[in-house]
Amino acid sequence: MTSRHNSHATKDKMTKADIIVGIQWGDEGKGRVVDLYAQNYDVVARFGGGDNAGHQIKVGDVEIALRIVPSGVLNPKVELFIGGGTVINPIGLLEELDRLAAIGVDISRVRISDRAHLVLPYHAAQDRANERARGTAAIGTTGRGIGPAYVDKVARTGITFGEFARRESLAEKIRQNLLHRAALLEGENLASEADIVGETLDAAQRLSPYVVDGVAYIHEQFVHDKRVLIEGAQGSLLDVGYGTYPYVTSSHTIAGGACIGLGIGPTAIGRVIGVVKAYCTRVGGGPFPSELHDERGERLRKAGGEFGTVTGRPRRCGWFDAVAGRYAVQLNGLSALAITKLDVLTGFERIGIVTDYRLRGQAAGFSAAGASDLEVVVEEVEGWSEPIGDARTMAALPQAARRYIARLEEKLATPVELVSVGRERNELVRLD
Ligand code: IMP
Ligand code: MG
Repeated sequence: MTSRHNSHATKDKMTKADIIVGIQWGDEGKGRVVDLYAQNYDVVARFGGGDNAGHQIKVGDVEIALRIVPSGVLNPKVELFIGGGTVINPIGLLEELDRLAAIGVDISRVRISDRAHLVLPYHAAQDRANERARGTAAIGTTGRGIGPAYVDKVARTGITFGEFARRESLAEKIRQNLLHRAALLEGENLASEADIVGETLDAAQRLSPYVVDGVAYIHEQFVHDKRVLIEGAQGSLLDVGYGTYPYVTSSHTIAGGACIGLGIGPTAIGRVIGVVKAYCTRVGGGPFPSELHDERGERLRKAGGEFGTVTGRPRRCGWFDAVAGRYAVQLNGLSALAITKLDVLTGFERIGIVTDYRLRGQAAGFSAAGASDLEVVVEEVEGWSEPIGDARTMAALPQAARRYIARLEEKLATPVELVSVGRERNELVRLD
């Protein structure tokens, strides 16, 4: 009986990993929130997605664009773990590592799970072919081959980083995969088989030192009481199961995806922080109920610099959507919110918040987001005109800005613990 008690106590005492996820359609500004929180952790871990993600962190004059390396990178002491739920273009990763090394970042802290899957040139070619075939129903993917790489994983024809150690079998699998999709890839601009095999084997050799037994690695961190911060990619409304399907990415972006993507159980999770932009954006096609098609949307795009970091595409812009927000709070079991880019709203006389959806006269939930006859209820609140970039406390914010934050907090029934008011690393208001 004593031993049973002991083991129970040990489990309860286990250090918990905290999660930071975006709760809209991506581009919420997770990178800088992770950058800040990472100061209190030993490891920052990515659990899903690939180089479709583009995190940007600004430090002084230097702007760092991250694709797959976790955003904890600027904290010199943290280890950076790329988990088994990710799909990685090895050549792209090498370029990213080279870029980081060139500005003095110690990249020896990077670890890649042996369970992560490779994204190869034929995946990107297939992504492009699929999009063309969809015609006007195109998803507007980033064209990086993310979807086809996840399809291969589920179809059991994917190639993992664990296979780097077996060069001959790795080469053979690439050849087989090319052979099996030859018809589909005909006419696509694709390198030769020999080049793809050669480049992949070279990349495998260079990346081998970073590859670890991913499950053993993460659990060792727990055994040694290391604090783990888990970083999401994309946003909850792009989740393959619960987002605006089929206009979604191909991975589980919600907090639950962290357990799958790292090989840990739900009991390992502590807090879940949802990053939410003070308004909404999305890139690519698909439902966006609070979208503004007028000059206010244009103004948000300009003021917020809302152009894709990966593809450069202009992002669609709109008001904060509290229906989508409440849905994402449920999907993720959020403990708290971090609001980003509040400064972008400065100068709007009135700011809209979508509070409810209505479908043919009835109240509707987020599942109705794609309906062509959906109507949204917009509440307009008073804006502010004074610049807020220097505010570091709630008290220093204009009253209307404080009221706006309180309204979002109330609408999502979740406490706000951080607000960003500018692009610099220190332009943050903490509410704790
Ligand atoms: P994919 O992930 O490239 O397959 O693209 C699927 C959808 O997700 C498209 O609408 C993309 O624009 C969107 N998407 C993928 N990654 C991101 C991201 O990091 N931020 C915003 N949207 C993204
Ligand atoms: Mg992004």
